[in-house]
Amino acid sequence: MDNSTQLTPGKFLGFVPNTDPRVAGLGFQQLVTCVCLLLPAYAFLVSQLRFRYLQRLHQKYPYTTRESFSRMTDDEACEIQKGLVQLEFPFLYLKSLQFALFRTYGIPTISTVLANTAQFSKPETSLKRYADTAALVQEFVGHAPTSRRACTSIARTRWIHSSYRASGKILEDDMLYTLGLFAIQPVRFVKMYEWRDLSDLERCAIGTFWKSLGDSLNISYDALPSGKTGFRDGLHWLEEMMAWSDDYEVRCMVPHVKNREVAEQTIAVLLYMLPQSLQFIGMRFVSFMMDDRLRKAMLIDPPPAFDAKLFSLLFSARRFALRYLALPRPYVLRYVSYTDDYNESGRIYMTNWDAAPYYVEPSLRNRWGPIAWLTWALGRPLPGDEGDKYYPKGYDNLDVGPKYFEGKGRQAMEDIMKELETTRRGQCPFH
Ligand SMILES: *[C@@H]1O[C@H](CO)[C@@H](O)[C@H](O)[C@H]1NC(C)=O
Ligand SMILES: *[C@@H]1O[C@H](CO)[C@@H](O)[C@H](O)[C@H]1NC(C)=O
Repeated sequence: MDNSTQLTPGKFLGFVPNTDPRVAGLGFQQLVTCVCLLLPAYAFLVSQLRFRYLQRLHQKYPYTTRESFSRMTDDEACEIQKGLVQLEFPFLYLKSLQFALFRTYGIPTISTVLANTAQFSKPETSLKRYADTAALVQEFVGHAPTSRRACTSIARTRWIHSSYRASGKILEDDMLYTLGLFAIQPVRFVKMYEWRDLSDLERCAIGTFWKSLGDSLNISYDALPSGKTGFRDGLHWLEEMMAWSDDYEVRCMVPHVKNREVAEQTIAVLLYMLPQSLQFIGMRFVSFMMDDRLRKAMLIDPPPAFDAKLFSLLFSARRFALRYLALPRPYVLRYVSYTDDYNESGRIYMTNWDAAPYYVEPSLRNRWGPIAWLTWALGRPLPGDEGDKYYPKGYDNLDVGPKYFEGKGRQAMEDIMKELETTRRGQCPFH
């Protein structure tokens, strides 16, 4: 065989184009040596780059002592949290918010209301409810506290709940519990599963943001030890919220058949994009993500021990790969799931879907891109399918929610927005 066409491992990878067979062996050794040196160097570089974001964050915000945390503004808290959602932990942060909502269904007083409002009687309505909740939450998490988009979605959220709260169908404790989970769940999930833990500054931001959101939703903190006297800062609020929430679960997260009903419908939403043959694994994964109390309350079996080991191994591998192998996400590739501009009809699109494609524009890309093909292969509907069923014109914050609430509550929401204009100023919510 001609030497020049012989493929040595060294040559194959573009190393040392040597024609002398005796030296070609050396090329391979060099390659191995290089890889052995380069890989740790690369891993070191990646982990350095990954932590640069956090270093810059701490340079940008002058909160170096616990004392100074009490001055963090709502605007800053919102920005810091947005960084976590869009850049640092996009996948797990969203999962944790979904899971926060899911967790509330372990409380019979919550699941019973949902089951009775018929929002969960059919898969259709639970898919829509999931999309609606995602829409409202992403609007107030993703936009500055004083922005029109944040305030309209807050007004809508408050209005949708108002009649149920006034009639006592929704308990104020359950409002507080649900709000708290939106802050607590991400903190706990990041600690358990992510490539780094949150810093105190970031935890404080989360506490500050949701404390202020609770104020805007007129949720009372009287049930918390410092609810009447006032909290020092976001961390203080978060700590008391966590303790109260854990205690509330001990008292109220109890087995109930309605929990199971609502949980089943929701799990169907979470596993929407899995083929039928893999659904049982997805189900075990969901169960793996739950703790004993929640599983008991929802009457769900724990996953088999082998599966649990496997899932936890996968999370460890992911954690390692992210920290040492995956370069940090650049700002231009930040994860955003909505359009920035209002459509000319004043509507906003979801830009991706992981369940039914509600509010997604039936654009060329969304109907013919890779995700569209995958969706099609699974036999799931595409954006724009079935006429107006999936709202191909996008959503209007003031109309999001159950169908029977569409177009309703305009005056009441105007009033709430007037109130927010004076109370929600993007300032520190602790003074
Ligand atoms: C806020 O909630 C309290 C009950 O917790 C209620 O009495 C009050 O009217 C509410 N305020 C507004 C403006 O909705
Ligand atoms: C608004 O929606 C229409 C279709 O509903 C679409 O053709 C148009 O491009 C959208 N405009 C913007 C600014 O997104």
